[in-house]
Amino acid sequence: MKILVVGGGGREHTIVWKLAQSPRKPVLFCAPGNAGIESMATCVPIKAEDIAALKDFVIREQIDCTVVGPEVPLALGIADEFRRAKLKIFGPTKNAARLEASKTFSKDVMAQAKIPTARAKSFDKAAEALAYLEQHELPVVIKADGLAQGKGVIIATTREQACEAVIDAMEKGVFGQAGKQVLIEQFLNGEELTIMAFTDGQTVVPMLPAQDHKRVGDGDTGLNTGGMGAYCPAPLGTPALREHVARAVLQPIVETMSRLGSPFQGVLYAGLMVVNGMPYVLEFNARMGDPETQVVLPLLKTDLLDVIEAVIEHRLDQLSVEWHHDTAVCVVMTSGGYPGQYQNGFPLHGLQSEAAAHALVFHAGTARKNDAVVTAGGRVLGITGLGATLKKAQAEAYQAVSAISFERCHYRKDIAHRAVTS
Ligand SMILES: Nc1ncnc2c1ncn2[C@@H]1O[C@H](COP(=O)(O)OP(=O)(O)O)[C@@H](O)[C@H]1O
Ligand SMILES: [Mg+2]
Repeated sequence: MKILVVGGGGREHTIVWKLAQSPRKPVLFCAPGNAGIESMATCVPIKAEDIAALKDFVIREQIDCTVVGPEVPLALGIADEFRRAKLKIFGPTKNAARLEASKTFSKDVMAQAKIPTARAKSFDKAAEALAYLEQHELPVVIKADGLAQGKGVIIATTREQACEAVIDAMEKGVFGQAGKQVLIEQFLNGEELTIMAFTDGQTVVPMLPAQDHKRVGDGDTGLNTGGMGAYCPAPLGTPALREHVARAVLQPIVETMSRLGSPFQGVLYAGLMVVNGMPYVLEFNARMGDPETQVVLPLLKTDLLDVIEAVIEHRLDQLSVEWHHDTAVCVVMTSGGYPGQYQNGFPLHGLQSEAAAHALVFHAGTARKNDAVVTAGGRVLGITGLGATLKKAQAEAYQAVSAISFERCHYRKDIAHRAVTS
């Protein structure tokens, strides 16, 4: 069996690594992949967004199944295109992926499905958004409607900041087309939690709850990033809360999407804010999270390939999905300067060290240059430690992190601190 994984970050390395463990021994390909993925899959130099080239490749290589990592190809309609050509693909259609690609659409569906979420109003005229802001309580959240690589959300503590965010998005076009429409949303004060789920459009199988760290600096300070680390299971996601999220969030959104004629198939990601024990949806994503995948998939006991096939063939109800009782902590190592300007091309040291071998080293932004592995992105590596307790997993991860180095490397020293100290 031949499988193509689309993407080339830490999430895709984790997916490839997990598929490589399948007893069914699939032959793996990844487009475009990275220097870590290379050791487990044949990397193909096709961009994740180049749907036509990916389709040609899949037909030419007789790939049996394609697994899509990132959101952009899904939003561009890769699943529709592949299904039209009778090619098996794991990931939602363009219409279903709008749950992520349009925050306004997502709020509309949440309202129809009666899902608890922050109150919000959508605007496509700057003047109306600015007028609405005059009466809004502070802080207030301004969100670009479309995909903005995690940069489209501003939490404004003053009215001036809020107005500036609206003008930046709607008039100055700093998020391009994605910011032509904005959502002005009520600020929720609580603790964030991620619950992802496999779904075939009918059956929903929640994964273990995870928490990620978005800010660049220790103590959750500094700029927002794509994610500096994550851990799983997050104690905040108690069995009761997970049950509640499955019943009050995941099941109704999946049912509503099917009823609207856009059944969602693949991984549905619920980004939640837990306020006084009650979960509110901040957003849905139409794929696995990065770096949440790096802590959730290692704990999946069931063969991922079986899960993927059950989703594609609409028989998820017949599969029992099981999890290890371990815990996982992932520490992301980034290029100095990220999420701002940074330099690529620094060689990585210590990847083959004994300490590194104790942990799972997932590559994100790396490339091969002659015989060396060099940095090639903001987030360079995700190091996942496993252990019976989060404290042990955290120690494993940091031990490996300290054995690996590259020039101007940065990482947070406090990943999973909330769960470990409490
Ligand atoms: N209503 C809200 N109240 C408080 N914080 C929010 C709210 N909405 C978003 N945030 C914060 O902003 C981050 C990004 O928002 P999110 O809706 O997840 O958009 P995206 O991931 O597309 O940037 C969240 O992870 C959360 O920290
Ligand atoms: Mg988010």
